[in-house]
Amino acid sequence: MRLIVFGPPGAGKGTQAKLLSNHYGIPHISTGDIIREEIKHDTALGVRVRSYVERGDLVPDEEVIEIVRRRILLENCSRGFILDGFPRTIIQAKALDHILNSRGLKIDAVINLIVNEEELIRRLSSRRICRICGATYHLIFNPPRKDLKCNICGGELYHRSDDMEEAIRRRVRVYNTETKPLIKYYEEKKLIIDVNGNGDINSVFSEILRKLGG
Ligand code: AP5
Ligand code: MG
Ligand code: ZN
Repeated sequence: MRLIVFGPPGAGKGTQAKLLSNHYGIPHISTGDIIREEIKHDTALGVRVRSYVERGDLVPDEEVIEIVRRRILLENCSRGFILDGFPRTIIQAKALDHILNSRGLKIDAVINLIVNEEELIRRLSSRRICRICGATYHLIFNPPRKDLKCNICGGELYHRSDDMEEAIRRRVRVYNTETKPLIKYYEEKKLIIDVNGNGDINSVFSEILRKLGG
C-alpha cells in the first residue's frame, strides 16, 4: 500500500500517518521529520535548509525530491509506505510519479485531511514534540501524562521553532498557494479520499480506515 497523507499544517498528517504505519506495518516517511533531524545534527543539508523551515517557507524542490527518492527505494519500502508532507508542489508530485512509474509502481490513495483554519492554529500553537523520540503531543487535546515529559521515553518536550504565530500563518499561506493545487492534480487521477479531520484523533483514524476499506 502506497499512501500520501495530505493536508494543511496542523491537520494531523503526522498523527494519522503514524497510526496508519502501525496498522499496515509499513514505514512512515515524513519529510518534515527528516529535515528537522538534519537541522538538529547540523549536516550540510540541515545548514542549507534551516532558514526556510524557520520562516515557514518550503525547502527547494530538488532537496526534498532527493530525500524521498533515496527513502522510498530502500528495501523496507518494498511493501509500501506512508508519505507525510510530500509532495507539496506540482514539481514534487511529478517527480514522485516519475520515480514510481519507472519501477512499475503507483500511489494507491491520497488521504486529504480537511480541517478548518481556527482549529489548525489551535492545534499548532499548543503542540509539543519529544526531543528524543519525536512523539507528538498537544497540551489540551493529547497531553503527556507527566508534566512536559514524553509518555514513551521520558524525553523533554519542546515547542517547534516554526510553531510560533508568524511562521504558522506563513505556512498556512504557503499551503494555500503552493500545495493546495495538488488536490486537483490527484483528483484528476481519481486518487483523492476526502476525510473530515476536525474530529478527535481516533474518530479521524476510523474514518480513514473505513474509507480505505480496512
Ligand atoms: P512538516 O513537518 O511537514 O509540517 P506541516 O506540513 O506544517 O505540518 P505539521 O507537521 O505542522 O502538522 P501535521 O499535519 O503533521 O499535524 P500533527 O499530526 O503534528 O514541514 C515543516 C517544514 O519542513 C515546512 O514548512 C518546510 O519548510 C519543510 N518541508 C517539509 N516537507 C517539505 C516538502 N515536501 N517540500 C518543501 N519543504 C518541506 O498535529 C498537530 C497538533 O494537533 C499536534 O499537537 C497533535 O497532537 C494535535 N492533533 C492531531 N490530530 C488531532 C485531532 N484529531 N484532534 C485534536 N488534536 C489533534
Ligand atoms: Mg507533521
Ligand atoms: Zn519520547
